[in-house]
Amino acid sequence: MRFDVVSIFPAMFDSLSEWGITSRALQRGLWQLHRWNPRDYARDAYRSIDDRPYGGGQGMVMLPETLADTLQAIALAQGQVRAPVIHLTPRGRPLDQARVRALSELPAVTLLASRYEAVDQRLLDRHVDEEVSIGDFVVSGGELPAMLLIDSVVRLLPGALNDPRSALEESFSTGLLEGPQYTRPEVFEGVTVPPVLLSGHHARIVRWRRDQSLRVTRERRPELIDRARRQGLLDAADERALSAMISETDGQKKG
Ligand code: ADE
Repeated sequence: MRFDVVSIFPAMFDSLSEWGITSRALQRGLWQLHRWNPRDYARDAYRSIDDRPYGGGQGMVMLPETLADTLQAIALAQGQVRAPVIHLTPRGRPLDQARVRALSELPAVTLLASRYEAVDQRLLDRHVDEEVSIGDFVVSGGELPAMLLIDSVVRLLPGALNDPRSALEESFSTGLLEGPQYTRPEVFEGVTVPPVLLSGHHARIVRWRRDQSLRVTRERRPELIDRARRQGLLDAADERALSAMISETDGQKKG
């Protein structure tokens, strides 16, 4: 898979190419990273990439022509593949694991990591396919959001994780949050590992883990329980476990 990123700080993406799973996957040839600096496509001697907003106001707006030229160069380099152009912005649709999975099946994706207050709307309307947000908070530019997106996609590429089961079991792939995990020692600061995990009883361990996962999800993200239910991801045993948790909470409230 191929990522083309547009950014005036291309070196920020070194953290993907130099570290961890994304770096190893790059070395394994599972993906490619191409960086494009819009300053290289600037039309004036100052290499300007932004200007003041028409109508006045705070901040600067990224110039549409420079970005259009950059995107055109990318499309040329990509050849036949038609890669979606995604702009990272808090105005975008929130990224989720379903979108990440869909993106991981594409041959190429172009990411526009903007800076300053805005990008000229005509560029967005004419050259951007989709706007994506990484959450309801604001960071200083699109680079970190673009890196989050790339990381979440690359780890799903076949061969990126040493044990592909990790991607299947972790939070969101089951529609639920992950429950707790424990390792040695058996007693840490006076607290023992839940005995079921030491029992060697595989079926009971699987059930316990599932219950923990339901419990954490119900406490922290109750809307995910409803969604999992609508998607048919909860079975009768799950519903029994959830009912038991509800009686438990009721008991606590009354008691
Ligand atoms: N740029 C700044 N904040 C952002 C966010 N939350 N998501 C995507 N891009 C952004």
